[in-house]
Amino acid sequence: MIKLHDKFFKPFISAKQIDDALQRMATEIADDLGDIVPMFIGILNGSFMVVSDFVKKYPKPCEVTFIKLASYEGVKSTEDIQRLIGLTQDLTGRTVIILEDIIDTGNTLAEVHRIFKNENVKSLKIATLFYKPEAYKKDFKLHYVGIEIPNKFIVGYGLDYDGLGRNLPEVYQIKQTQHMTNLVLFGPPGAGKGTQAEFLKEKYNLVHISTGDVFRFNIKNETALGMLAKSYIDKGELVPDQVTIDMLNAEVEKNADAKGFIFDGFPRTNAQAEALEKLMDSKDSQINAMIALEVEDEILVQRLLGRGKTSGRADDANESIIRNRITEYYNKTAILKEYYSAQDKYFGVDGVGSIEDITERLSAVIDKL
Ligand code: IMP
Ligand code: MG
Repeated sequence: MIKLHDKFFKPFISAKQIDDALQRMATEIADDLGDIVPMFIGILNGSFMVVSDFVKKYPKPCEVTFIKLASYEGVKSTEDIQRLIGLTQDLTGRTVIILEDIIDTGNTLAEVHRIFKNENVKSLKIATLFYKPEAYKKDFKLHYVGIEIPNKFIVGYGLDYDGLGRNLPEVYQIKQTQHMTNLVLFGPPGAGKGTQAEFLKEKYNLVHISTGDVFRFNIKNETALGMLAKSYIDKGELVPDQVTIDMLNAEVEKNADAKGFIFDGFPRTNAQAEALEKLMDSKDSQINAMIALEVEDEILVQRLLGRGKTSGRADDANESIIRNRITEYYNKTAILKEYYSAQDKYFGVDGVGSIEDITERLSAVIDKL
């Protein structure tokens, strides 16, 4: 991963893939042109790397020149294209091949066609290393395309983000979500996860996602996913992981600008941990740590019985149900300790003490991530 100005980018296309694509293009163009000596025209600034590497692979005589246009601001294409350096030689009767680094909206290409309308060239062909079909809004033919890419901003190999990144020999793609701190808050029922999550989300500007709350919200509001979840719950069955993951995905997407998330109540199994990893990966992010509040069983039972008196939650009222939940927790979910330990992401924190002390202990872990 690299950072340019305020944004993070991940490796996307290797130098080797670029080299192969240019080789294919050079061979194909040379075959098509036969004995014609083409005039290759690079569009500056972005195309300087493409042109330089491409012409070294071109197996026959050719001429090379540049024009300079600019249409990009930050990470967005603009309609307003400036012609900074125009054509300097007579191209009458020539076969011209435009060499582009990337074709995005096609605005730059429209300008190129405008420039060549009065040049009396024999033929004008377009070759581009990268092409974003989803972004392209014109219908000029693209004669040679190296690599089609999704409509996401890239840098490297001549392409820049506000001036930086042109020198990179490979191509990087912008990360969908920028740098986030994602925590799994873990601990048996009554450990104080909910209480601590409230403090941590304020302190670190994180979004707290409690699967229990998400379920209750979706069911109460009768969302499609809520109704689906309810159909399992009503039958006394576990909600399939995919339904839960889809709900979490919706929560994560609702908060795309978040600095990170606190997951509470999920994952509970290895399969769920893997599903969560995949979900975060699809957002170009990851789980940074599992933080577990460690509290002795007897203290948990007392706390939950106390909570049951005021919360009205049926599962907090009965001691044998409480003990079951605690046992169930250790049987089923403590294996996650191994899962995250194996990735050096498990942090146990003493969950007995004042709320402030425990928040302090949790913060000490988070600050070191
Ligand atoms: P178009 O005019 O929208 O087709 O965009 C063409 C120009 O925008 C290119 O020559 C680049 O300078 C710039 N551009 C388009 N997409 C990207 C990108 O993903 N990264 C960096 N520059 C880009
Ligand atoms: Mg360009």
